[in-house]
Amino acid sequence: MAKAKTKFVCSTCGREEPKFTGRCSTCHEWNTFVEQAPKTEMKAKVFSAKQVANRSTPGKVERMTQVRTSDYPRTSTGYAEFDRVLGGGIVQGSLVIISGDPGIGKSTLLGQVVAHLANQNVVLYASGEESTYQVTSRIERIGKRTDNLLLMNESNVASIIASAEEHNPSLLVVDSIQTMVHPDESGSPGNPSQVKAATSLLLDYAKNSNVPVFIVGHVTKDGDMSGPRTLEHMVDTVLYFEGDRQQELRILRTAKNRFGPTHEVGIFEMTERGLEEKSNPSELFTDDLQESGSVNVVMMEGTRPIVATVQALVAPTGYNFPKRAALGLDANKLTLLCATLERKCAIPLNKFDVYIKSVGGIKIQEPAVDLAIALAIVSAMKDKPLPSSTVVIGEVGLVGEIRKVPQFERRVTEAIRLGYTTIYSAPQRVENKDLNDHIHSAKRVREIIEQAFT
Ligand code: TYD
Ligand code: MG
Repeated sequence: MAKAKTKFVCSTCGREEPKFTGRCSTCHEWNTFVEQAPKTEMKAKVFSAKQVANRSTPGKVERMTQVRTSDYPRTSTGYAEFDRVLGGGIVQGSLVIISGDPGIGKSTLLGQVVAHLANQNVVLYASGEESTYQVTSRIERIGKRTDNLLLMNESNVASIIASAEEHNPSLLVVDSIQTMVHPDESGSPGNPSQVKAATSLLLDYAKNSNVPVFIVGHVTKDGDMSGPRTLEHMVDTVLYFEGDRQQELRILRTAKNRFGPTHEVGIFEMTERGLEEKSNPSELFTDDLQESGSVNVVMMEGTRPIVATVQALVAPTGYNFPKRAALGLDANKLTLLCATLERKCAIPLNKFDVYIKSVGGIKIQEPAVDLAIALAIVSAMKDKPLPSSTVVIGEVGLVGEIRKVPQFERRVTEAIRLGYTTIYSAPQRVENKDLNDHIHSAKRVREIIEQAFT
């Protein structure tokens, strides 16, 4: 038998190479290859499908009419914002991974969830990163001490599972998967084979015991989960916890969910007493000022309408080429909108610098924000404010037309619920005819500018 060789595996995407390679030809990351010791493999004899099947007992088959389709039983995390993202709460036996930048608040969030669940049931929190003292003092800042919360400082995933078997918790948290080792796997913690082996052991535990397992995962500088992507296929639910560490806003997003819709978001604010839910996030992202250059939009985060303010500043340029800069909004979009305003709406911007920004640090990338940006620029340019009871919803095309947006009625309904009275948009049908009293629509940006500023 040929001697098994050491191989090198990319820690980002899992690509295998026989030799050390500086740059991965699949994911193009640098210095991600780690050495993996050879496995002794026996060459398998080839059998036909029939031969193989003959030595097995038939697997279980169910008639469609016998399959239970009622909803999965769920437990609340204690936070409606978190439950929504999970699809309505924690599903028994599910394996959930929560990824995010270091320091963003993953351990804080899970600490709060276990503190809530421990009011009723036994919960096991295993950390490979922090001592039980550190975990306790964090949770104590938010909740009270309880005997129901079992803590471990352990990185052997088999020992963690053995303790879970002994105490039968209602939830197992493993923080983080990159610190875990599988006793039968070689290599140091965090390398792809360790991460994969530890995850698959936890998956097996979750499915056999019906205990839900939450895993914390770190992300690379590009925002991907570190370790092999195959992890995402193995688990039931993938959540990303995002935010800017300089700011308090935190958004929990679903990237994959076998037990609920994706594209849901939960919104939190990091405070001195841990993470607080924000059930009315619009208050975080609006400026409430009737100033020129400030215009409100209704954006969608998943199925959730949120009112946010975009601000524009227009100033005579001191450069040969006027400057365009955007924060929280798309800079390319800004360039296109300036060109469209100039050519199609007779707004002479070529001697002016234009800056735009979203309030509260929220990223607004969807096309529905175009018209609000355009009107904010015009408002700043003319130094004429729009009434603060106005919201603007619409995509802008290069010929100066206003285009329809998805989920229009939901956006309008939310704006009116929050007390806004005037909506500028493209002509778009709504089921609830009462909303039409508030909607001022036009096909072209030029016409909206005339309506809004004269
Ligand atoms: P942490 O949950 O440790 O982040 P992660 O597990 O994602 O690495 O959160 C770390 C940050 O959160 C830390 O900088 C301190 C801050 N923090 C608060 O602002 N308030 C709090 O109540 C807690 C517990 C943490
Ligand atoms: Mg942590």
